[in-house]
Amino acid sequence: MEEFAKLIIDGKEFEFPIIRGSQGEKAIDIRRLCQETGCITFDPGYGNTGACKSQITYMNGEKGILRYRGIPIEELAEHSTFVETTFLLLTGHLPTREELTRTSVYLNDFSTLHENMKAFYQNYPPKSHPMGILSAMITAMRSFYPSDTDVGEGINQTFLWLISKIRTMAAMAYKISKGERVVYPRPDLCYCSNFLHMMFDSPVVPYQIDPDFVRALNVFWILHADHEQNCSTTAVRDVGSSGVNLYAAISAGMSALWGPSHGGANQAVIRMLEEIHQNGVTIDQCIKRARDKNHPFKLMGFGHRVYKTYDPRAKIMKKICDQILGKVTNKDPLLDIARKLEERALQDNYFIDRHLYPNVDFYSGIVLRAMGIPTNMLTVMFAIGRLPGWIAQWQEDTVDPEMKLCRPRQIYTGSEISSYVPIDQRG
Ligand code: ACO
Repeated sequence: MEEFAKLIIDGKEFEFPIIRGSQGEKAIDIRRLCQETGCITFDPGYGNTGACKSQITYMNGEKGILRYRGIPIEELAEHSTFVETTFLLLTGHLPTREELTRTSVYLNDFSTLHENMKAFYQNYPPKSHPMGILSAMITAMRSFYPSDTDVGEGINQTFLWLISKIRTMAAMAYKISKGERVVYPRPDLCYCSNFLHMMFDSPVVPYQIDPDFVRALNVFWILHADHEQNCSTTAVRDVGSSGVNLYAAISAGMSALWGPSHGGANQAVIRMLEEIHQNGVTIDQCIKRARDKNHPFKLMGFGHRVYKTYDPRAKIMKKICDQILGKVTNKDPLLDIARKLEERALQDNYFIDRHLYPNVDFYSGIVLRAMGIPTNMLTVMFAIGRLPGWIAQWQEDTVDPEMKLCRPRQIYTGSEISSYVPIDQRG
């Protein structure tokens, strides 16, 4: 039976259909609102706005649920690999053995980079942030890899080029920033091992790939692979809605991810923990600052727009953190600080009342540091993981007949009409 929501404006009643998602979630379909009532909705930050229908990811912020294509994140983190999860997100189903092998072979075949792209890196100032370099490189890929061929299963060659080459570009940025020789990918290594190899191998000290690091990296990237309509994914969909090519839309997503309220939080968490460690700021002072409305400080890695309970990804990340830190010889003092900070915040009324819990970024930086990933590369690591989700969401958007050019409205609060005053008559 069709359900309706009633809205009364200036004494006149209007009805709008209610639509339901497959998990029972409800939305009021207001597509005719402006046309019928002359009103628009006002929802800064879009916290109450459904911008699309999607079959990719389900999350429930009250219950702490996250599923990709119906499969709980906990099961994927335990059993899957990043490449398999990528296939799942792009196609909607887990791959057969043949499909998985074929995808892995493609990812290997496409992993090198056009040699002329190296020149871009050399001309960036030495301290450039790798997120800025990478988002520019992604846009540049359009000129080097313009083809649009389908390789089967609805997977476009462009998707695989992006997913394969992003890790080569990221490792290359790191090597060049250190003044070291660029390391090329090896055909015998899987996706994650190849990344670690390109990051850390050197002609004089061959890098020994640690299978525990490879597993941890798989889990890290699985946990980041999609998160429905977050800020960067919305950027990808919004920019993509203009009909621009995939590379440009992904580059917009990368720029959105860079900010400290979103993906840049993993870097900000490490900076915060370092400040506590080096400058002698106590845990209590930190909590006090976070509670103080006149202080700009926020407890980085805490809080989430949707999760009002413990982020399920943070639970898994915390376990991985314990495992990886348990085996490395150089104990990271930041882990101890993070644990104490979490314990203290979770007992504090300010955090309890606002349902502020650790998010995925709280422990992930510590895990990546233990693997040798430098702090300014942490958000790049997030971006590599989020890429399959961005692509899947872009693809869904481009084939959805209900989707339109994104163009929100506004409530104008500026001055009324006024006349142009010539410059010598202005007071
Ligand atoms: N530290 C201190 N106070 C906080 C924090 C925090 N980390 N997060 C939220 N609050 C407070 C707000 O000041 C606000 O208080 P008030 O009601 O007294 O005004 C209340 O909690 C609600 O917060 P909002 O800002 O309205 O929540 P919103 O959903 O807009 O913000 C966000 C979510 C941006 C993630 C926020 O919690 C934050 O900035 N966290 C720190 C940055 C971070 O970790 N970002 C990563 C998010 S996960 C991801 O993108 C992968």
